[in-house]
Amino acid sequence: MVSVNKGEWDRSKGYDFVNDFNYQWLKEVRNKLKENGTIWISGTFHNIFSIAQMLNELEFKILNVVTWVKTNPPPNLACRCFTHSSEIIIWARKNKKVPHYYNYELMKEINDGKQMKDVWNLPAIAPWEKSCGKHPTQKPLGVLSRIVLSSTQPNAWILDPFTGSSTTGIAANLLNRRFLGIDQEIEFLEMSKRRREEINSLAIFEEYKQKIQGFKDKKQLTEYLLFEPSVEYGQELPF
Ligand SMILES: C[S@@+](CC[C@H](N)C(=O)[O-])C[C@H]1O[C@@H](n2cnc3c(N)ncnc32)[C@H](O)[C@@H]1O
Repeated sequence: MVSVNKGEWDRSKGYDFVNDFNYQWLKEVRNKLKENGTIWISGTFHNIFSIAQMLNELEFKILNVVTWVKTNPPPNLACRCFTHSSEIIIWARKNKKVPHYYNYELMKEINDGKQMKDVWNLPAIAPWEKSCGKHPTQKPLGVLSRIVLSSTQPNAWILDPFTGSSTTGIAANLLNRRFLGIDQEIEFLEMSKRRREEINSLAIFEEYKQKIQGFKDKKQLTEYLLFEPSVEYGQELPF
């Protein structure tokens, strides 16, 4: 049995507050995004519709609404509705007119040569991903790796303003991208640091890359990364 109490940050303060909060943070990150940059936002039905509305108000262009289907969801103990077994993830680009990057070929390759669909069958988080402590809503590296690989190139800067245990950052660094994370809870930032320090070990770095779900076999990701075309970015922090 898992507690559904995720903390004070997850308690709703009403529609107007939620809409205003979403508008403000999306406006801030939009200012920091490159003109050809994209944003991924996951959320539950409690706030994802507000997010979609605010994205439209801020002139983002929604590219996809991805459904992550958990292949091993926890059971619904109350038995009063369907088992919650999916999460919605919106992908949007900053500018309606400026093209974005999409690694079409890689997505096809990891989907047995067929176009990758907007329904992703990936397992929920595995015990090895919690080696540095527990975050109540920690995402699996399999989901974040697909997001990072499909929409960024090596050396890109990735920002997660609600970083939690920094799964985005761990995926980014395992995949040769740079990362900046923000969270209001010091406890989660400490956990993020522990996770980052853990992959300073080359053995663990390589082991984790092989364990990430969503690839044909253990070698596919490592082999792909060896030859992934790189892009020159400045050394300075873009944020
Ligand atoms: C859904 S969790 C992120 C989980 C993360 N993807 C992971 O895999 O660990 C959202 C995080 O946002 C943080 N948060 C909520 N409100 C915030 C705010 N106003 N400013 C900064 N962080 C905030 C929470 O502390 C929480 O860790």
